Amino acid sequence: MPHDTQVSYYEELLEKHGDKSPLSLDWKSAESQTLRFQILEQLFSIAGKGRGFSILDIGCGLGDFFGFLKKRGFRFSYTGYDISERMVAAARRKHPEAKFEVADILESHIPQRSDFVFCSGAFNLRFMDEEEHLEKVKAILLRMYELSKIGVGANFLSRGALRETGSGNYHYFKPEDLVKYCRSFCSRFMLRHDYHPADFTLFLLR
Ligand SMILES: C[S@@+](CC[C@H](N)C(=O)[O-])C[C@H]1O[C@@H](n2cnc3c(N)ncnc32)[C@H](O)[C@@H]1O
Repeated sequence: MPHDTQVSYYEELLEKHGDKSPLSLDWKSAESQTLRFQILEQLFSIAGKGRGFSILDIGCGLGDFFGFLKKRGFRFSYTGYDISERMVAAARRKHPEAKFEVADILESHIPQRSDFVFCSGAFNLRFMDEEEHLEKVKAILLRMYELSKIGVGANFLSRGALRETGSGNYHYFKPEDLVKYCRSFCSRFMLRHDYHPADFTLFLLR
């Protein structure tokens, strides 16, 4: 089952590197992880909402996006979802003031919509064939959009970029494919492909 393989993959990394290291989330460095958060954070100003909002974080891992936003001084309520029970347990220990649940966005009932729905890094690794992965990610994007009241922010590895690296398990997306798909249900969007040669972020606005 791709699901189990994915959970074991991340839980083995967590076992090896501990709950303070971005390596547990398959980020190459803390800088790599933070760069994605810095871009995602810009959605608040793009949407013109600077405080007092609700956030849903899909594939939250250790809740590091919550920690990042808190340090940046934002006031918000936060719920993080992850398919790994161990990740969620570690995230709860690290950030007792936030809410974390074990859930797959496509399979679980998510009880309420939030102002912003984010996903950072959870689409980078593929545990099924390419076509299936692309279809699953599209379905997740649509679900994220349905669950958002103001907007969605998500990042992806970029195909054809100069520095395509990795073991073969990484999935590189064509930005134009995702833009084309998202335009079928969303007419206000932004594509950021300027902060890293092999990564891009999509913002979808309601
Ligand atoms: C690369 S890590 C990123 C964690 C976090 N977003 C960060 O940037 O620190 C990806 C996480 O997404 C989780 N994940 C992958 N697919 C998921 C899904 N469909 N629903 C919920 N979590 C998922 C994995 O278990 C893993 O913890």
